[in-house]
Amino acid sequence: MSNQEDLLKTLIGHAKEYGFVFQSSEIYDGLSATYDYGPYGVELKNNIRRYWWEAMTKLNENIVGIDSAIFMHPTVWKASGHVDAFNDPLIDNKDSKKRYRADVLLEDHMAKYADKITKEIEKAKKKFGDDFDETQFRATNPNVKRSQDRIDAVEGRMKAVLEANDLEGVRQLIVDEEIKCPVSGTANWTEVRQFNLMFATELGSVSGESSTIYLRPETAQGIFVNFLNVQKSARMKLPFGIAQTGKAFRNEIVARQFIFRMREFEQMEMQFFIKPGTELEWYNTWKEKRMAWHRALGLPLENYRFHDHIKLAHYANAACDIEFKFPMGFKELEGIHSRTDFDLKQHEEFSGKKLRYFDTETNESYVPYVVETSIGLDRMFLAVLSGAYEEEKLENGEERVVLRIPAPLAPVKIAVLPLIKKDGLPEKARAIIDTLKLSHNCQYDDKDSIGKRYRRQDAIGTPYCITVDHDSLTDDKVTIRDRDTMQQERVAISELGSIVSGKVDMRGLLRKL
Ligand code: GAP
Repeated sequence: MSNQEDLLKTLIGHAKEYGFVFQSSEIYDGLSATYDYGPYGVELKNNIRRYWWEAMTKLNENIVGIDSAIFMHPTVWKASGHVDAFNDPLIDNKDSKKRYRADVLLEDHMAKYADKITKEIEKAKKKFGDDFDETQFRATNPNVKRSQDRIDAVEGRMKAVLEANDLEGVRQLIVDEEIKCPVSGTANWTEVRQFNLMFATELGSVSGESSTIYLRPETAQGIFVNFLNVQKSARMKLPFGIAQTGKAFRNEIVARQFIFRMREFEQMEMQFFIKPGTELEWYNTWKEKRMAWHRALGLPLENYRFHDHIKLAHYANAACDIEFKFPMGFKELEGIHSRTDFDLKQHEEFSGKKLRYFDTETNESYVPYVVETSIGLDRMFLAVLSGAYEEEKLENGEERVVLRIPAPLAPVKIAVLPLIKKDGLPEKARAIIDTLKLSHNCQYDDKDSIGKRYRRQDAIGTPYCITVDHDSLTDDKVTIRDRDTMQQERVAISELGSIVSGKVDMRGLLRKL
């Protein structure tokens, strides 16, 4: 088993043991690709959502929010193209009976060549030190060139066959590249078939074509169909955005990799309505703005990169992903799409209602263009968890597991720990919590040794531990321990609020944007 698989397994174990994420319906052996968030998980998830929501709606006076229903009129999904085109190409291995997304098999295959290139470059960097010229090395090193040529060849063919919806061509490419099933190790593949990802259900008690409705596969359509309601009621002028967070559902074929790919998940989406012709400018602006939002968190910068889409979705004229280095490698975390006027025009056509904006500056009325930013909340949760997880060797030879979660996102901000369970220390600790709990999520803990309690807080990512000892009763001071440096400092209880706020306040993060 590779180290990467090990790391994902370790994270899954940690997330369960410390109350972040549980398998759904676990006592019934679980339901695949569905997860529940535990006591610390729900806090972290709420904090990520709040960071996104406030970055969108508080920092931009031209972005407002909505909360639309999960169920929508079935024609919405006809108009959006999801009924006809929201498909994944799937392929089965006849020996292992495992099912794969054909495009993912090809992407993983290319990623192997990309890994080879990265390794060659790292080796050369070490060898040549400061004299190393990466551009020249990429252009001249035969191994790197060979791998790059392979990637370009596969990418070119893949784009062509996917765009032409040539399923036999997709299969042939997999066969030609000698891609094998990771489980059986054979290349005994079925044909490639299209599989629609929407979950359907019946409205009311009568089943039949007319009453079939879908669980929304994206939150975006709830924004599009409310475009005029929002524009008129909130008196918005172009350019303006509508933000929404909420559940989405997809019948994913390959639903492995923990909360990375789920069948029920949450999205945070923002549609930015603009004048036609300005879309590429806004597309670039939102690319930068969204990357800045990620970078402000302080997780390692080398964990992020942009990836331009090979095959554009049916609605886009430019699209890229922000990829994050998950334990399984670099994968999509967020999508930024220039969706043109596709969705609004489709809804005009299917509903028979005008969805136009009257531009008072030019005295014309038109269907706006849209740039979308769309991020999975659960995927962001996994990014934070995996970016924050560290097994650290300490100077005294011991080891600790610490979650270096960005402090404003941490589930618990402060743990207050009486040194012993008597002599009035618990009461003093609770009095401190009473002064802090309206501003911060606090936790009281008096079980086990102080060392064990520190470890428990490190493992859930609590930025500060405050220890109350006998002196605290007379000098009104406590010891405050920083999660990351493990430095301890004696401070006045009256100063705690301002010391802690400096680091854990969400405003600190938002100010960086
Ligand atoms: N409205 C555009 C849209 O839905 P997408 O790229 O299909 O675009 C956007 O999805 C984001 O939603 C992805 O970048 C990912 O973070 C998240 N996402 C998509 N499918 C997911 C799944 N099955 N499980 C968890 N997150 C998912």
